[in-house]
Amino acid sequence: MILGIESTAHTLGMGIVHKGKVLSNIGDTYKPVREGIVPRKAADHHAERFAGLLEENLRKAGVGMEGIDAIAYSEGPGLGACLKVGLVGAKYLALRHGKGMVGVNHPFAHIKIAEGIAGIRKPLILYVSGGNTQLLIERGKGKFHVLGETLDMGAGNLFDAFGRGIGMEYAHGSGLAKLAEGGRYVPLPYVVKGMNLSFSGLLTQALKEAKVSGERDVAHSLFETSFAMLCEACERALFLTRRKGLVVCGGVAQNRRLQGMLGKMCAEDGVEFGVAPDEFNRDNGAMIAYAGELIMDGALREPEKCTVDQDYRVDRLRRHHY
Ligand code: FE2
Repeated sequence: MILGIESTAHTLGMGIVHKGKVLSNIGDTYKPVREGIVPRKAADHHAERFAGLLEENLRKAGVGMEGIDAIAYSEGPGLGACLKVGLVGAKYLALRHGKGMVGVNHPFAHIKIAEGIAGIRKPLILYVSGGNTQLLIERGKGKFHVLGETLDMGAGNLFDAFGRGIGMEYAHGSGLAKLAEGGRYVPLPYVVKGMNLSFSGLLTQALKEAKVSGERDVAHSLFETSFAMLCEACERALFLTRRKGLVVCGGVAQNRRLQGMLGKMCAEDGVEFGVAPDEFNRDNGAMIAYAGELIMDGALREPEKCTVDQDYRVDRLRRHHY
């Protein structure tokens, strides 16, 4: 029985997993008003919610701390202040109850729970969230190769930054997707370099264009353009790698239009397409527990030795050979 703690950014998530089965997955997200994530405020939110969320998860899973075998936590990448709240909370619990700890790379957790639920072996992976946008394959267990990635911001940050730019109170991709409904297409900059992508010019132009063509049409076009870019890069990667499946994961993977476009492309190319339910694509604790259980044999450590790494890339994994 593994307790997972996720705290890389604006969400404090906890979850309990036993033999790949999710017994609880309850978290809470800090929602900044008219600003981006302020790390200090997000960290305060996580510290305030820590004890309450732990209690809710234990109750949902029907276990006490004595029934937990190990504590998995997100080791990085993420915001230092937020990561540290998760680490300190995990350490306190581990020392107090005499448990070992497992540091989990955050993208690795997104990827593994999505692959597990989709049931696709050795897929091409599109990991697309606020801070990250990467195309990856796993060549040996825990050995990831990044085929392409964003050269500036993650796709999620593109939507959030556009939302803030047009004055949305709580700028988030889901709210922007609502605003975009019924919009008409206006051309915006489209930048794909091989399997790499660039979104910053698209953001600048979209903010200018919003004053001319209106927010609805430009929001719609921002999604259409960036998702088409992701599809092109994925299709190129599929042909190059000859992988027979595509799994999309991360916060932006919740977008139904992106799911539809990728699914259609895969169907046309005879490739299997998989995506997990939303609760596992947003940042969540169950994925950390799930991945922690997977790597526990080689990665279980004394709490005193555990740290965080703000720049922990998925293609530089330590101890993730399961
Ligand atoms: Fe994430």
